[in-house]
Amino acid sequence: MKFYRCQICGDPFMGNEMPTHCPFCGAHQNYISSAADWTDENATVGDITDVERSNLEEALQLEVNNKAFYLDASGKADTLELQGIFKNLSKIEGEHASTFKKILKAEPPAPEPGKEKAADSDHENLVAARAREEHASAFYAQAALDATDPRINKVFKAIAEIESDHIDLEAALLDRGL
Ligand SMILES: [Fe+2]
Ligand SMILES: [Fe+2]
Repeated sequence: MKFYRCQICGDPFMGNEMPTHCPFCGAHQNYISSAADWTDENATVGDITDVERSNLEEALQLEVNNKAFYLDASGKADTLELQGIFKNLSKIEGEHASTFKKILKAEPPAPEPGKEKAADSDHENLVAARAREEHASAFYAQAALDATDPRINKVFKAIAEIESDHIDLEAALLDRGL
């Protein structure tokens, strides 16, 4: 058994092989290191610029909203498969919220009213989820460009990639006719 640790969310885990994605936040393999080599990159963040702060706060709110949305969608899902997928996505968005929270050193806000509710239909929720992920991925890609701090740039870039994976996942489920 080997120990690994994610450079994005910071969570450690064990296994026999390096996974393709962090099991907690979904970061791609290039962001995973052996636990022995892991360093706390958040400690390198210096003064956060106004633009970085504003983007991080918006990102934190967005993740909190999407975490609640996916949890609601999971509870309303018609199949066990979708129940599980939405639950996993909720957990991943929760990891993203906690990643932004650690950089901001701020408590997460409550979900925004109306942004945390899922519909009763799985199809509608998948369409809404894909739109949420498209917005998040584009926003994080821009926030990465806005960032002057290397750690903040890296986190936005990594999470933009993860949300992009979620777009692909949801598009594939919609293609199946769900
Ligand atoms: Fe992670
Ligand atoms: Fe996310």
